[in-house]
Amino acid sequence: MTVLHSLEALANWQKKMNWEERKSSFVPTMGSLHEGHASLIAQAAATSDLVLVSILVNPTQFTEASDYEKYPRSLEADAEKAAQAGAHAVFAPSPEELYGGTPSSEPVQWGALTHSYEGAKRKGHFDGVVAVVDLLFQATNPDVAVFGEKDLQQVGVVRRLAQERHPSIDIQVGGLVRDENGLALSSRNARLDEQGLEDALALSRALFELRQSHGEGKQWTGVLVKARAALSAHPAVDLEYLDVVDADTFEPWQGIPNQRAYGIVAAQVQGVRLIDNARLKA
Ligand code: PAJ
Repeated sequence: MTVLHSLEALANWQKKMNWEERKSSFVPTMGSLHEGHASLIAQAAATSDLVLVSILVNPTQFTEASDYEKYPRSLEADAEKAAQAGAHAVFAPSPEELYGGTPSSEPVQWGALTHSYEGAKRKGHFDGVVAVVDLLFQATNPDVAVFGEKDLQQVGVVRRLAQERHPSIDIQVGGLVRDENGLALSSRNARLDEQGLEDALALSRALFELRQSHGEGKQWTGVLVKARAALSAHPAVDLEYLDVVDADTFEPWQGIPNQRAYGIVAAQVQGVRLIDNARLKA
């Protein structure tokens, strides 16, 4: 597997592979790849000639230094997994290489999209995501970039970034991959023990309950209040939010749900911060 560590190596590889002339896709990641990432890479490979995956644990999007330090890193195994899923190369620069010096970010203010939910709980998080994705888009300049629905709010933020600064890049979205018990796959799950993995299922169960009761014609507002109370009372779950939002704007949902109404949840289990979401309409 070709692993490119510098901007120069990336540019040389793109030239050699005729990147500009061929249909190219880009899948940005922070590594520690699992089946969720693999599904995005496979989706990209199915519709393009060349697939580039980036692996960079981006310091500017972490709000806790310890979370950044503890983030799992496994470049060799990741490059292998990326190749198996259909990638043609991995771009793995150091933060200093990509940022051209000490990594930093500018404040981004796109209303609820950057300042509610994840943006409110992790102040500055989306500033860092926008900074790194902007730099990655500049460096790679693909036809298509693929992001996972797992990070639903990030999808909205990236769409806005592309619209403003990279209108030629087509943003595509891949579905959320879960394990056999319903737990949303995440690199952070590796930090949960057996009990933590069991307790973490309370998140997806709350979302599925919302979806199911909506499917049965129940008023989602009442179900939401009860599900929120149940999660708050769970001794092993430290709930940050459970809500129903408009996936495009991240404003709280009002009225009758349509395709854009999603249940979203964030909570800590064993000190590990987890997020999940599910569309209300099946
Ligand atoms: P990371 O958490 O590594 O995720 C990389 C991509 O994989 C994101 O688009 C994310 O939504 C997707 N993904 C993660 N878990 C998934 C799952 N269970 N099912 C489907 N897709 C999943 O998101 C980031 O990195 C960073 O913020 C990044 C965009 C790379 C910027 O640093």
